[in-house]
Amino acid sequence: MLPLDSPSTKYPVSVRMNDVTKGQARAPGPTVNDILRSDTFPPPSPLIASEYQFLGDSDLDPKRYTDPNFAAQEFSKMWSQTWQWACREEHLEDAGDRYVYDIGPYSVIISKDANGDISAFRNSCTHRGTRLVAAEGSGFGNGFTCPFHGWSWHLDGSLEQLPARWDFPHVCSEQHSLIKVACELWGGFVFINLNAEATPLSEQLEVMTEHFKHFPLDHRRIKVHVQKRLPANWKAAQEAFLEAYHNVETHNSPNGANAQYDIFGRFVTRFIHNTGTYSPESLEDYPGNRWRDPVLTESEILARTPGEPRELAANETAREVAAAQTRARLAESLGASQQHISDSEALDSIEYHLFPNMFFFPGINIPMVYRFRPDGDNVDACLFDLLIMEPWPKDKAKPFPPEPVFLDVDQSYTEVPELGWLGRVYDEDTGNLALQQQGLKAAGKGLTLGNYQEARIRRIHQTLDAFLSA
Ligand code: FES
Ligand SMILES: [Fe+2]
Repeated sequence: MLPLDSPSTKYPVSVRMNDVTKGQARAPGPTVNDILRSDTFPPPSPLIASEYQFLGDSDLDPKRYTDPNFAAQEFSKMWSQTWQWACREEHLEDAGDRYVYDIGPYSVIISKDANGDISAFRNSCTHRGTRLVAAEGSGFGNGFTCPFHGWSWHLDGSLEQLPARWDFPHVCSEQHSLIKVACELWGGFVFINLNAEATPLSEQLEVMTEHFKHFPLDHRRIKVHVQKRLPANWKAAQEAFLEAYHNVETHNSPNGANAQYDIFGRFVTRFIHNTGTYSPESLEDYPGNRWRDPVLTESEILARTPGEPRELAANETAREVAAAQTRARLAESLGASQQHISDSEALDSIEYHLFPNMFFFPGINIPMVYRFRPDGDNVDACLFDLLIMEPWPKDKAKPFPPEPVFLDVDQSYTEVPELGWLGRVYDEDTGNLALQQQGLKAAGKGLTLGNYQEARIRRIHQTLDAFLSA
């Protein structure tokens, strides 16, 4: 674990690769922690917290991404045993509202009954197994009826009736009600676990239970939902979003070298990546810098930060002005002062990853939620749900969530106008995936990871291994 108050490695001190303990080397320049501690509106305690541990440096077997047998093990030993969010509470406003969530071969119905209780069931008939609700996504009904022989169930999953009852004296409500799946609510999300005897969701959430008391996701609503099929294994696809190391080559962006990576436990990792400040990679004598930029003025930094560019006075910084602009915009949309929002929450890319496949960004300018799932049993493809979660007034009813906009492999994120400039960025992020999936099959060696910037990837593989060997 890093000491919280370690002095920053001030630019231009170079990293001496041979005299640091493995995993302790850092990019030159101010750390995220330095920047947050000097902010005008200081961060809440979760953003000051910093934990890292060296997790090893051995290569990863590429078959983990390409072997159908490995994927089959993931389904039987991990996906069937782990908590995953399936939908939002807003999908289940009234009795009879339901949502179907598919994960590989498994399918779950989440249903709200007349008492207002939310329950989850396997989407499978207890007669001869037929899938009960065909389509994934939201729907409504007064109960469930199997399209094959017409058995039916109440909204709480209890058996209602079956045709030719005389032939089934051995059928009873205890044995033939819909098969329950564990279900819990957190942050406005409905989580399910196919293992009905699963340990509570809070064990998987680890520090997120405490940290997100500062970032109430239940006071947000889905503004945009895009679902895209990506041409890579679900792990490779999500790993493209777990590090900022790719920013230079993939995004042609001099940004991300000083991102902070946290390993909080078995299930939760995080990165914090500052905006509204300079990145050491943009400086002209940064090792390997391709831009040869001069040091930017604060006005130039503001122009590269989402918000309203303007000339800054000598005593103003881009970061404090951009954060103030963000607070003002949010205050206007929510109709309430937002002076409690720190500069970091206003501006930074703060990305929590929850094993196995979920990302939560509690920031205001960068307010995303991601989910990566296998695309059926196709080991070479996955489904990427991208949600933009807009802060919403606490006392105002949330609108019903928008239907996802579906993009197939060959479609561009720029086809979704609501994404604005982000469309191009997501195209860049996902543009390498087909080549990576092909290259993994042609690989003559294992995958090599950075000790710090790619430690979150290794954490996920280690936790996955723990499930597979259980
Ligand atoms: S398979 Fe569902 S009623 Fe027969
Ligand atoms: Fe990226």
